[in-house]
Amino acid sequence: MIVNDLPTKLLDGAYTKGEWSLENYLKKGGYQAAKKVLAMPRDPAANNIPALIEEVKKSNLRGRGGAGFPAGMKWQFIDYKAKKPRYLAVNCDESEPGTCKDRVVVTYNPHRVLEGILIACHVCGIEDAYIYIRGEFVVEFEHLVGAVAEAYAAGYFGSNAMGSGVRIDVTPHRGAGAYICGEETGLLSSLEGDRGYPKIKPPFPAVEGAWRSPTLINNTQTIALLPGIVNMGADAWAKIGPERNSGPMIYCLSGHIKKPGLFELTMDVTLRELVEQCGGGVLNDLKPKAIIPGGSSMPVLRVDGQPYTNAKGEQVTDNYDIRMDYDTLKNANTLLGSAAVIVMHERTCMVSALYNLIRFYHHESCGQCTPCREGSGWLEKILARIVRGEGKTEDIDGLLSVAGQMSGTTICLLADSAAMPAGAFITKFREEFVHFCKEKKSMVENAIRL
Ligand SMILES: Cc1cc2nc3c(=O)[nH]c(=O)nc-3n(C[C@H](O)[C@H](O)[C@H](O)COP(=O)(O)O)c2cc1C
Ligand code: SF4
Repeated sequence: MIVNDLPTKLLDGAYTKGEWSLENYLKKGGYQAAKKVLAMPRDPAANNIPALIEEVKKSNLRGRGGAGFPAGMKWQFIDYKAKKPRYLAVNCDESEPGTCKDRVVVTYNPHRVLEGILIACHVCGIEDAYIYIRGEFVVEFEHLVGAVAEAYAAGYFGSNAMGSGVRIDVTPHRGAGAYICGEETGLLSSLEGDRGYPKIKPPFPAVEGAWRSPTLINNTQTIALLPGIVNMGADAWAKIGPERNSGPMIYCLSGHIKKPGLFELTMDVTLRELVEQCGGGVLNDLKPKAIIPGGSSMPVLRVDGQPYTNAKGEQVTDNYDIRMDYDTLKNANTLLGSAAVIVMHERTCMVSALYNLIRFYHHESCGQCTPCREGSGWLEKILARIVRGEGKTEDIDGLLSVAGQMSGTTICLLADSAAMPAGAFITKFREEFVHFCKEKKSMVENAIRL
């Protein structure tokens, strides 16, 4: 079911020139939510701050950065009474292939992000916020800097933010051009001026993050959703979409699709509806074969109706009519991730598609952990051999063995991000890998080159 007459939207006015100005944002009721929240004193005795965290928990807001972690729960981990500075880092690195939503939110609705920052900072007792924005986002960065200047001039930020008597400052910080800087601890290393190396958790950033102080890290979209929750009230917001999967979701539709783009909907939508109704169907009216539901690191779904043998040895078929929410996709052994839906049609060679994807992960591995550095390298080397027509059928189980040894053994989840798609591609399309090894060419006639 497609529900897009949402009471609160981040993409309102997207792609309209000038939409990003403060004047326009105020016309739409902008900064009212922040005004309401900042009017509450930061007084632990008044007990209003925990009450606000309860509101976020009640809303069922789940982080839009990939893991779908409950935002209110994360906020609760920040000790706002601690005698240390606390920081907010807004993650706008957006490097996961297929994901392209934060950049649009920041370009056309930057004040919504800034309003969300004011709310998050006040609720968690934070005075300094950073927006870590991907280095390649030039126009996006300019819009953000312009909006920050407007917000300071209006007195929303600074030593007396919105007349509240508390200081809240915000600094856009340009990223260092590496996928790994989107991983939260890598981001903090980069923000501190070091190489973007991820760090072992625990301690989690909420306890010990930037400059060894408690740091809240949320995705840009997560932060931008906050004014809507305050304006509507958590109970009403929680009712948008399926239970536990509340609020608007921005689906990024790409790949072999007639109308790629962003679609802001409730999470009631099915995969088929996204492709056929939102995306206008598959390119050249071909049949869909495989769809990655949540960014390139999430396990692919096989949607051509053909059964495959899963890890338990059962014959199963993936459901093209699956509901695109966190819980339903998890139950189907994949993940919603960043809701980046990548469509591959029937002329896609799954072997070369996986090779293409693994090259990315190998290139982006920071090299600290042996299983990730060597494992992604071996996956790439073996796949290259198969694609060159020099593979042997034993290589297929070799790939699965390497992928199996990468998961759960590293500092961050980049290794899993390579291992998960490798496992799913091979398990679900094993016949294509076998054919390539035996016949020295793709099983797909007139396969498109990736
Ligand atoms: C390799 C890797 C890359 C990531 N890249 C991003 C990214 O570009 N943007 C993002 O918001 N989260 C990214 N994440 C997730 C972050 O580590 C973190 O969980 C997220 O920013 C938290 O925000 P949320 O709770 O609002 O979802 C990445 C994670 C991993 C393991
Ligand atoms: S898993 Fe990979 S990217 Fe993450 S810290 Fe280890 S080597 Fe670096």
